[in-house]
This record gives sequence, C-alpha cells and structure tokens, in this order.
Amino acid sequence: MATITYRGGLSVDEVRNQVKADQIYKLSSNENPRGPSPLVVQAIQEAALALNSYPPRSDDALRQALVDTYDCGLTLDHFVCTNSGSEALQIIARAFLEAGDEFVVCSPTFGAYVRFASTQGAIPVDAPLRAADFTHDVDAILAAITERTRLVFICNPNNPTGVIMPAADFDRLVANIPPHVTIVADQVYEHYVQRTDFPDTVSHVLAGKPIMIVQTFSKSYGLAGLRLGYVIAPPELGERLRGQLRNFHMNSISLAAGIAALQDKAYVQESARLAEEGKAYLYGELERLEVQTWPSEGQLCIDSTLRAHRRSLSAAAGARRHGASDRHVWLPRGIAGDGWLGGSECGLYCGAGRDIVENGSLGD
Ligand SMILES: Cc1ncc(COP(=O)(O)O)c(C=O)c1O
Repeated sequence: MATITYRGGLSVDEVRNQVKADQIYKLSSNENPRGPSPLVVQAIQEAALALNSYPPRSDDALRQALVDTYDCGLTLDHFVCTNSGSEALQIIARAFLEAGDEFVVCSPTFGAYVRFASTQGAIPVDAPLRAADFTHDVDAILAAITERTRLVFICNPNNPTGVIMPAADFDRLVANIPPHVTIVADQVYEHYVQRTDFPDTVSHVLAGKPIMIVQTFSKSYGLAGLRLGYVIAPPELGERLRGQLRNFHMNSISLAAGIAALQDKAYVQESARLAEEGKAYLYGELERLEVQTWPSEGQLCIDSTLRAHRRSLSAAAGARRHGASDRHVWLPRGIAGDGWLGGSECGLYCGAGRDIVENGSLGD
C-alpha cells in the first residue's frame, strides 16, 4: 500500500541545522504563512495574565463560539474540542478501533490515519485514489468494507493531492455505508475550497448519520503552533470521543485564542483568497515548465515531478537547497501583498522545480 508512515515536518530550526540558507520559509506542514490574526494575539496576551489559574473545567465557551459560527442547528453536544486535528484523529482511533478491526484509507493520503489507527492494532485496507486523476473511487471504498471495518477515512480536500470528493460521491458513500461503519471526514483544508459541489457533511451530522468531521485551527486560521482542533459529530458519537479526554483537557490560552479566531472571519477569507492567488501563479509557472498538475482545492497541490517517491525526495532536497523546507508537495501560497514574504515562497518553489525539470534529479 502506498500510504506512508506519518512524520510531522521539520521545524525551521531543524532545517537550519541541515542546510545553509539565508532564510528558511516553513511550508512543510501546509501551514498558513501569515502570522496569526491580531485579535488572537490580543486574546492570548490577555489570557496569559491569568495563567496561574486552572482553565475552566468545561470548554463550553469555545463550543458555544463554534455553535454560533456554524449557526445551522448544531448544538454544544455536536462539538468535541481537541488539542489539534491530529489529536482528534488519535482520539477517534482510540475510541473506535480495537486490535483486529479494519479501517479504510484512500492512498495516497494523510499518513496519520494509518499511524494512529495501527497503534490500536487495527488493520489498514486501501481503496486507492484513481491513478489518473486522484479522485476517490466510491465503489472501491464500499468494496473494501468488511464486517470488521469500523472507520473509513476520507481526507477532503485530500492531502497531498488537493483533490476533493464532491457531494454526489460523498452522499452516495453515506447512503451505502453499513451501520457498523463510521466515516471520518477530515476537512482541515475546507476553507480553501472554491468548488461549489463540496459535500455538506454538517447536514449529514445533523441528520444523525455516522460521520465525524475533523477540523483544525492550524491551516486557514494560522494557528498551527497553538495545537487546537475539533470534531463535529452526532452527540452519541461525540460522547464516545469525550470519554477519551482528560480533566482540564483544553488550556486557557487555546480556549481564548480559538474564540477570538472564530470572530475574525475576514482573516480566514483573506487566507483563502491569497492561497488562490498563489495557486494561480504556481500553476502558471508549472505549466510553463510543462509539469503536469491536478486541480487542487486546498492550499497544497501535487505535480508530476513530485509524484514518484524518488522524485519527491529529490524535490525536497532541491527545495531545501533553495532555502525552503518541504517534503513532497508543492505548496501554493499567496504571493501578493505586504507582509507576505515578498512573493518569494512560490518563487523558491518554482526555482527548485526548474532545477528538477531542467537538470534532472538533484539528490541529497
Ligand atoms: C489532512 C490533515 N488532517 C489533519 C492534520 C492535522 O493538523 P493539526 O494537527 O495541525 O491540527 C493535517 C496536518 O497537516 C492534515 O494535513
């Protein structure tokens, strides 16, 4: 199976230890290169003054802010707050998988699914994305389900391809999923989606369908360092997840920052707009290099030079030599506007890409 073991990207300091570069742009975890919203910074500063106290015993205030943000009939009981999307995935694996259970993934996809689920002793079953266009194959997913299947992970938009599973496919999957299986819809790149046929997974949750939506503040909210995420699920599934949480699970800084982040809707919109701008530039450059790309609805995309593993290692080496930290995907970012690294991120990537295309494999 092509799914790889999940390892988080290197930090800026770790990259600096490996390469000589004047400036390093941290891109390897598809994070948002903008600094956090000023509203969030202010909320964190204020919350810091009260750090001698324990946080509130419940995270109701943040969940209420989520209820207000979604404003579509979801209640406090539909939300489970976590210390990151990764932790949400880990808690889901703990709550829903036992040794010998099976779970379905669609490779290539986010490696954490296999990592966390396998830790439970569960067995991955692959229903690969279609090779030609990286779309999900719903029939293959349904065929991969057995009596031992407990979870199906759908990364939407998918990391590392940026391709989405559209509503028609998702709805068909939901309509045909057997009662002993729950769908994990990982939608951490959802705010970047421009297509109008993205599935309305929340309406499925409101209808009580067995779906858990994973979300994070790490990407479009620009708060990867904070480690804050949440799950939206029917209350009875949420209750199973809450059973995995320890006392004082959410710290006061995260609670305050999350509420402030939800208030700054303009920040998220601007992040999505800048990503679109960066993507248009990057796709144009890659087309000039005659590198094949696939339509991405995330703020990441994949291209043909990086598709094979060997090439992706070369690309990582090339990108690093150009001062950028990356593993295996091109990360289109907004390139215009003050405070945006002067357009250099996409330029760096295109520079590394030119090396690969024109000079062949770079190697380490
Ligand atoms: C598809 C996907 N899901 C979940 C995550 C986890 O994000 P975090 O742990 O920062 O919330 C990531 C991070 O890269 C991701 O790409």
